[in-house]
Amino acid sequence: MRVVLGVGGGIAAYKAAELVRQLEQRGHDVQVVMTRAAREFIQPLTFAALTGKKVITDLFSGENANDTLASAVEHIGVAQNHDVLVVAPATADLLAKFATGQADDFLTTLHLAFTGAVVLAPSMNTAMWEHPATQQNLETLRARGCFVIQPDEGWLACGTTGAGRFPDPERIAAEVDLLTEQKKDLAGESVLITAGPTQEALDPVRYISNRSSGKMGFALAEAAARRGARVTLVAGPVHLNAPPNVRLIPVRTAQEMRRAVLESLESATIIIKSAAVADYYLAEVPKQKLKKTATRLSLELDPTPDILAEIGEKKGDRLLIGFAAETDNLIGEARRKMAAKHCDMLVANLVNREGLGFDSDRNEVDIITGSGKTVHAGPADKKEVAEKILDQVAMLRLSLSTAETKS
Ligand code: CTP
Repeated sequence: MRVVLGVGGGIAAYKAAELVRQLEQRGHDVQVVMTRAAREFIQPLTFAALTGKKVITDLFSGENANDTLASAVEHIGVAQNHDVLVVAPATADLLAKFATGQADDFLTTLHLAFTGAVVLAPSMNTAMWEHPATQQNLETLRARGCFVIQPDEGWLACGTTGAGRFPDPERIAAEVDLLTEQKKDLAGESVLITAGPTQEALDPVRYISNRSSGKMGFALAEAAARRGARVTLVAGPVHLNAPPNVRLIPVRTAQEMRRAVLESLESATIIIKSAAVADYYLAEVPKQKLKKTATRLSLELDPTPDILAEIGEKKGDRLLIGFAAETDNLIGEARRKMAAKHCDMLVANLVNREGLGFDSDRNEVDIITGSGKTVHAGPADKKEVAEKILDQVAMLRLSLSTAETKS
């Protein structure tokens, strides 16, 4: 893959050198572009030595043209000759310029002219990262299809700790690989995914919920969109941004989730139910806050609708993929739920292990396929697990349509 790496002017600019090495080790051909501010932090010579190519620094220097490119429109030539633009570190200033379409130096002009995939690896001080202006710019860029790599949390060069740390270059390189794999095996499919917990009100200020973060469902949505599917994501309350090219329908309760799912069901060809739906709710929610008394409080809860079971009854030829969150007898319970809810496939995970599953970035699952075979995935980042799950979904879709063609 031909990668153009834009280096912004942040203290993490020196880490971009390691990123060049990681990208090259993975077989990518890298051209580096540096902003003027980046050159305050690290010399172009470092990147030139690593890539064996002249680093592009100025819009009109004329020295920048490679043999085949006319220097006056070099940014257009570079845009046309590369498959992916990676910006690392992407500073708050660069994000603002990209979001507003400014083009006052080589990198910002290249960004406007670039039609391939854009990957941004922001890195900055926590307050700058959390500032509404930065978050809004990121939202704008995500909505335009840019892929944003979440910065790490930890010690920052400004002497504070928090979110904004430059991600491990190996992680950025792995994300670039995932993005550029170009597996389009879900093209033509319309995938409906549920994610996150639901919240069931007990009074105007309290609710019952669970520890689901929604990360598994969001990773599935992002991966399915990248693999060519039209994706609708019905999500309970989570702290995650909509992935690029995904229609997000936010809901709160199990009833709301059921309604949103049924409304989107008609056009769906694949349904993946990764949400951790609350099993009980309070039917009559008091209008006033429940008052504390010295005696025990008992609440009578009613079962919520089982959305997966309901879809299982009326799914027709849609593929239905359920999830099972268990604390013991994983495979036994998963097989029972798969049969009871008429699923074509089921993803089972243990949810009582520290650092895996609920409320975590990583997961380890057993995928019970249509043929009853069990495929193990992880422990790995949820994005990687999502790809493995979708590999099985795509395989099942292919085997069913091949069987249909034969009959
Ligand atoms: N599910 C659902 N609606 C519910 C409860 C669960 O659609 N009211 C779906 C989940 O999205 C998941 C699957 O059913 O795909 C299994 O959920 P899980 O919580 O593991 O099992 P339950 O059926 O709720 O059974 P239990 O809590 O007793 O294990």
